[in-house]
Amino acid sequence: MATAIIGLGSIGARVARLLADGGEAVVLASRDASQAAQLAKDLGERAGVASVRDAIEQADAIVFAVLFDVIKELIAEHADLLDGKLVIDPSNPISFDEKGNASRTLPDGQSAGSVIASLLPAGAHFVKAFGTLPAELLTSGTNRTPERAVLFYATGDDEAVVGRLITAAGFDPVKAGGVSASLRIEVFGDLHPMGGLNGQLLTATEARAAVAG
Ligand SMILES: NC(=O)c1ccc[n+]([C@@H]2O[C@H](COP(=O)([O-])OP(=O)(O)OC[C@H]3O[C@@H](n4cnc5c(N)ncnc54)[C@H](OP(=O)(O)O)[C@@H]3O)[C@@H](O)[C@H]2O)c1
Repeated sequence: MATAIIGLGSIGARVARLLADGGEAVVLASRDASQAAQLAKDLGERAGVASVRDAIEQADAIVFAVLFDVIKELIAEHADLLDGKLVIDPSNPISFDEKGNASRTLPDGQSAGSVIASLLPAGAHFVKAFGTLPAELLTSGTNRTPERAVLFYATGDDEAVVGRLITAAGFDPVKAGGVSASLRIEVFGDLHPMGGLNGQLLTATEARAAVAG
């Protein structure tokens, strides 16, 4: 079972590396085929390269590691391929002003996850995951000892595949809730390091307590 990684920037390249290092097969897709080929060479035999469309077709799970608006475009373009697939949305509704100050780009109470989930064809499965930490923390937090750090996810679907992928990536998976819980784990949410967690990574015990509130 392969996971497609669409977009190989800060998040996509990191997630691809964590999954491949954790024993998962990945199919890498970027607009620049040479970028995908170079990363695949670095990652070794578990990584393949394909066009965006072929990667989606070949994979069971697809990480859309591109900006929120680009995810919307790619879903519209490839909706015919998404039946039965797990769509993994790492996006954050965030923008930065010229001074580098971050702010949300969606109205209060609306998550990027709820928007993306609403655009999927009925047969596709949705999970919010892998964008719940800033990219640097994703790299520094993997395979933490003595206790692993948590990556939260939100879904109304089957949890087995996302649990497997988060575990392979070197984190403990903890469910924050259904799709509506995306708001809690996206940037500035109460379960996000740039929100209520004040930069902290949690253990599974701490994370379950935080979810329960
Ligand atoms: N960076 C973080 O710390 C962070 C943390 C959590 C969540 N996220 C979320 O993760 C997602 C990716 O963010 P990022 O920081 O990784 O962005 P990024 O570094 O700008 O990378 C985005 C990648 O998407 C590619 N891309 C753009 N349009 C594409 C298309 N039509 N088809 C295929 N690839 C395309 C870009 O390729 P080109 O080089 O060809 O433009 C680029 O490699 C965003 O939704 C973001 O909100 C980011």
